[in-house]
Amino acid sequence: MKEIIAQLTEAFGPSGYETEVTDMIKGMVEGYADEVRTDVLGNLIVVKNGSPEGKKVMFAAHTDEIGVVVTHIDDKGFLRFANIGGVGVATLVGNRVRFANGTIGVIYQEKGDWKELTLDKLYIDIGAESKDEALTKVRVGEFGIFHREFADLGNRLIAKSMDDRIGCAVLIEALKKIDKPTNTLYFVFTTQEEVGLRGARTAAFGLDPDLGIALDVTLTGDMPEARRMDVSLGKGAAIKVKDSSLIAHPKVKELLVQLCETNGIPYQMEVLEFGGTDAGAIHLTKAGVPSGTISIPTRYVHSPSEMVDIRDVQACIDLVVAVSNQDLTGVF
Ligand code: CO
Ligand code: ZN
Repeated sequence: MKEIIAQLTEAFGPSGYETEVTDMIKGMVEGYADEVRTDVLGNLIVVKNGSPEGKKVMFAAHTDEIGVVVTHIDDKGFLRFANIGGVGVATLVGNRVRFANGTIGVIYQEKGDWKELTLDKLYIDIGAESKDEALTKVRVGEFGIFHREFADLGNRLIAKSMDDRIGCAVLIEALKKIDKPTNTLYFVFTTQEEVGLRGARTAAFGLDPDLGIALDVTLTGDMPEARRMDVSLGKGAAIKVKDSSLIAHPKVKELLVQLCETNGIPYQMEVLEFGGTDAGAIHLTKAGVPSGTISIPTRYVHSPSEMVDIRDVQACIDLVVAVSNQDLTGVF
């Protein structure tokens, strides 16, 4: 599983340009699914048929990652850029950007006060000595990602874009463990989550599921002087109560808690004071879809070095498998 996480997190997939990731996932799920298709927005929909009396369950994990878009190239070949998704300015200076064609650049700042650092005070240096040389490598409008390699620390792993390739890895690993599920499962590897839950919105409309569950990262409160939050690395799958996009449907939340209890899966309750997931879009589809989120506790979210604990990842996989095999007749 670590190998899969390494491959997924090192792939290139800023919002809107996720095909390297979805193609990779297509290869990984081959042979485990009854049907694999892609929709207009690029969502990869992997279907696993259940029994006739089963419900339609949509699981969503997003394939896109935060990044940058080039807005201007100056006469000396330096790039200016805007953010794609929630980019923290404090994580940028000295970090590297990679573009689709492999061009690498370093982000640095103009002179001035660190405390007043804003995106428009930053530039990307791709080593070009002139605008003409820069234009042989990058154009205005091109998207880039934060370039960083995967690191295996034992139980804990660091990588860029754990948000949300780790959710993708959970769904891939769960699919491999599911033989004849009770429910018909739609594992949706969504696009454009980081810019407003866009892929999940059209995917859910097309599928019209009985139950929606997002797999995504959540914050933790277990670092030095951290914002208070009762989620820690290594303490199990996090079952979302609420975030800015969703109040988990009580029946979904209770189902997840009950399945953890009966299957001995470690879990913790998550109250996230800001942020959202694909479940925020799914639950507002058509006349409404009962929805919830299984979160993977993650430190340093939206930095180029996001950290997860492999034991929490395992707990999330076990919970997805449990939902897949649960008889939901009369519940949803
Ligand atoms: Co995110
Ligand atoms: Zn995410």
